[in-house]
Parts: sequence; structure tokens; C-alpha cells
Amino acid sequence: MKIAISASGDSTTVSAVDFDTFWGRSRYYDLVPGVDLRPLVQAALDGMVDEGGWYSLLAARMDGGIVGTAAVFRDPWYRSRARDDVACFGLVTADGPDVLKALVDATQGVASDHGIATIRGPVNPPRSLLGYGVQTSGYAFPILAGTSVDPPTLADAYASLWENGYFSSSDHYVNLVQDFEKTWAYVAQHEPDRSLAVINPDLNDLGDLPGKVAELMNGTLSYRPDYLATSAERLAHEAQQYRAVPGGEKLLGFYMDGDVLAGGVIMQPDWFQVLRGQHVKAVVGDIYMLAPAYQGRHMMNNFPEYSARVLDELGATYYEHASIWDGSKAIQSTVKNGYASVSREYLVFEIGE
Ligand SMILES: CC(C)(COP(=O)(O)OP(=O)(O)OC[C@H]1O[C@@H](n2cnc3c(N)ncnc32)[C@H](O)[C@@H]1OP(=O)(O)O)[C@@H](O)C(=O)NCCC(=O)NCCS
Repeated sequence: MKIAISASGDSTTVSAVDFDTFWGRSRYYDLVPGVDLRPLVQAALDGMVDEGGWYSLLAARMDGGIVGTAAVFRDPWYRSRARDDVACFGLVTADGPDVLKALVDATQGVASDHGIATIRGPVNPPRSLLGYGVQTSGYAFPILAGTSVDPPTLADAYASLWENGYFSSSDHYVNLVQDFEKTWAYVAQHEPDRSLAVINPDLNDLGDLPGKVAELMNGTLSYRPDYLATSAERLAHEAQQYRAVPGGEKLLGFYMDGDVLAGGVIMQPDWFQVLRGQHVKAVVGDIYMLAPAYQGRHMMNNFPEYSARVLDELGATYYEHASIWDGSKAIQSTVKNGYASVSREYLVFEIGE
């Protein structure tokens, strides 16, 4: 692994470090009470290498002491606006703009050494636990799997770099909290087309469902600026994790038109509650999708209704959609229609072509 050295001002140097050094100074060390993130982060990074990607861990030093840390990586499954050749930085600990700049400069240098000119971040592996985008509002909301947790000072540091023209572009994401009573009331007034059959996966015999879901996900979602592509094998593996939640397969609802997979709603339990062995009370809204032939027919209303019913059945009381890109106008109509509200906001920044 190449070592990147970069300087900001006179005194901040950045170099590649081993996992112990990185982790010991990372704020992720104790970010989530009762959950040891270390093996999960390490597995996510090592998994990228196993699949043909790479990563490097960096520490910024000032006067000999570590003042910030970050990871830079190429996840072979990551797609940004259908582009493959994009690296990411993430898992950032930095007190101020100078340290942040020194770290991001260095991540860019590492990406460039790997022949990649475009870098985006923050993206925090594993995203299903640590989310992506720097948090810019909603700091009082509870820690939730799949959602970045950052101190306000970090948003200030990014804002300072943005104002100085350091980044080429940014993408805005919101989290949305769903109100169940208002959902029922809205759906009662706007009956969706219920002609499609809803199925849940049989976790003992997934059949050809993972292949169909992977095709639909990759086909409908890879236009987004931060998408993790998938495959039948990956989905089949991930589906098994839902065994940890009694009735967890209901969090995966698929809409069939005969044999054709027309759409789906994919939810995730709050994996932090699962890891702590708690009863899952919070559910993360991950994906709503409809194949193009079924879009534009007001069929999306099936999904919030389905989610509300499943959370009721599972005894979960909190439903927050994570990382909704503000280009997803259909999802944001749930705010306009009064049954979801913005809880927290995030920005992902890009440097490069
Ligand atoms: C998200 C998705 C399921 C919505 O389904 P859809 O068939 O396009 O939307 P619907 O016809 O059911 O309309 C739902 C609402 O969104 C609104 N909407 C849909 N597309 C819109 C657009 N481009 N701009 C503004 N509003 C839009 C509709 O007007 C409707 O609101 P209303 O009830 O107030 O009129 C579908 O577009 C999709 O699968 N997109 C690709 C995957 C994706 O991006 N998912 C979101 C991120 S997880």
C-alpha cells in the first residue's frame, strides 16, 4: 500500500497508518453505545479488498500528535450517477477545516495513485450502519443504523472548505420520519391501486427472487449519486441477516404482477438494536422502487401503507427513511402530502471530473 504524505499550512502532515492507529484515534471508536464497531468496519473495508477494491487509512499529525483520521477506499460495488471509477473518503475525525482539508487532500492523492480522478465523501463503511453524508441538521434525533452521526463542528469545517471553492459539487440528502396516523389517513383518502400481489421472501428458499430484486434495484437506482450496486448473491446473503428479527422477512415486501417483479419496499431493522440484542423498535426505510412500466400510476402509496402495517405487526414504533436524495421527488412528495417530515439533513461532496 502506498503511503500518501501531504501538507496543509506548515505543520499538518498526513500519512498512511495501520488499523490500530487509525481506530484508536477515530471518533467511531465509541460512537454507538453498546456496539463494538471495530470488527464491523474492518470487515467492510477488508470485504472491498476481497472483491477487487482497495482502501487506505490516514492520520493527520500536528506537532507529533494525531489530530484527525480518515479512510479512503474504492468499493467495487459503489456507483455514482452510473459511474464506476469513483473513490470515496469517509470515517472522518477532524476538529477544524485545516485538518479536514489536509485529510481530504491526502485521500485525493491516494485515489490519484490508484488512477482515480474523482472522489466523493463522506461515505462511511459499512453504510448500512454508518451512513453517508456529513450531518448538517437534526442533531437531537437518536442514533440510527444507516445514518451518519456527526458533530456540528464537522459540518462547519466542510462548509468552510465549500465556501472556499474546495469541492466541485455536493448532493443533499434528507432523512424523513413517517407519522403512522397521518399515513393511514392519507392512504384512506387516496386509495392506491392494489392489483399487485405482495410477497415476502421465504428465507429458507429464496428461489429466483434475489436475482429479480438485484436487477430491479440496479436498473432503477444506479442513476443516484451514491448507490451501492448489488447482486443475487449479495442479496441472498444479506437476507439471512433478517433472521435476527422475528418476522423480519416482512421488512422485505415485493410486489408481483404474475411472475414479474413490479416493485418493492425494502426496510432494515435498526441494526444497532439487533446488535445489542434488543427488541427492534426502530425500522429504517431503505428503498421504494417500481419498475418503469409501473411508475407514474400512483402506485407508490402502497409502500407507506405496507410499512405502517408491518411496523404495527412487529411492535416497532419508529420509522425513519434514511438518506433520501433530494432528486427523489416522488419520495419527497410524502412530506408535501403531510405524512412524513424532514428529521436530519446530509451533504456528500465531490472533487474531480
Ligand atoms: C420512487 C418510485 C417508487 C415512485 O413511484 P412513482 O410511480 O414514480 O410515483 P407515483 O406515481 O406513485 O406518485 C407518488 C407521488 O410522487 C409524485 N411524483 C412522482 N414523480 C415525481 C416527480 N418527478 N416530480 C415530482 N413529484 C413526483 C407524484 O405526483 C405523487 O404525489 P401526489 O400523490 O401528491 O400526486 C419510483 O419513481 C421509482 O421506483 N423510482 C426509482 C427508484 C427510486 O429512485 N426510489 C427512491 C429512492 S429509494
